[in-house]
Amino acid sequence: MKILITGATSGIGKQLALDYHAEGHEVWALGRNERALAELSDAGLHTGQLDLTDREAVLAWFSRLQVVDLAILNAGTCEYIDLPAFDSALIQRVMRANVETVAICLEAVLPVLRKSSHGHLAVVGSSAAYLPLPRAEAYGASKAAVAYMVESLRMDLHKEHISVSLISPGFVKTPLTDRNDFPMPFRVSVERASAYIRKGLHKRRAEVHFPKRFTYVMKFFSLLPGALWSRIGQWMVRS
Ligand SMILES: NC(=O)c1ccc[n+]([C@@H]2O[C@H](COP(=O)([O-])OP(=O)(O)OC[C@H]3O[C@@H](n4cnc5c(N)ncnc54)[C@H](OP(=O)(O)O)[C@@H]3O)[C@@H](O)[C@H]2O)c1
Repeated sequence: MKILITGATSGIGKQLALDYHAEGHEVWALGRNERALAELSDAGLHTGQLDLTDREAVLAWFSRLQVVDLAILNAGTCEYIDLPAFDSALIQRVMRANVETVAICLEAVLPVLRKSSHGHLAVVGSSAAYLPLPRAEAYGASKAAVAYMVESLRMDLHKEHISVSLISPGFVKTPLTDRNDFPMPFRVSVERASAYIRKGLHKRRAEVHFPKRFTYVMKFFSLLPGALWSRIGQWMVRS
């Protein structure tokens, strides 16, 4: 398969790129970090240095591709709100990195996915989108927007026979979560995350979520009445 992965210079995306390459697929790995891209290139992957917020550059780069069978839009960031400062610039940064880049990549990649006889689009959201979490006014909202976008797109792309998967990880040990200052239950390695994702995408699951012992608990909590979950959240903030 011809596979394109954004955010392939670090964490989950890098592991996916290396694992798919080791399986014999042709992989295009995108990112900004020059050194990480050079390592991937030395390992035999195709690379592209792009800031995904730059719409013109992204559209120009993607227009040179012939065909993509599987596109994994994984690039993203995480920042938390710390009251009393409600930093709207932080919200803008996170929305830009997590929502706008996905929209830009979708515009760029759909034409090349359509050229595949078995096109598959996968977008990395987060289990944080299942329900509101303290300090996640930016990150959670951005991933909820991504989930909505992906679910809508699945309906619209159905007639074109392009599969659409939403990837909803729990905690994965990466440079992104290494910055977190709170307990991260059931955090898994990037190797485990990559295995879960590759297995789920192979089965063309509508949603690939893992680790199940974490995501099912989150899904259960999302079924609670909002007022009850709010009380639990307030208790989490106090403790
Ligand atoms: N780790 C977790 O526990 C977890 C849980 C749920 C969801 N996620 C999601 O999984 C995805 C990957 O996260 P990770 O933990 O692997 O993070 P990471 O190690 O920080 O990697 C983030 C990747 O995104 C790229 N990126 C960010 N902004 C970009 C931009 N404007 N243009 C181009 N590339 C950009 C980075 O590229 P450069 O380094 O080259 O700049 C890097 O390759 C994210 O969408 C994240 O929200 C992660």
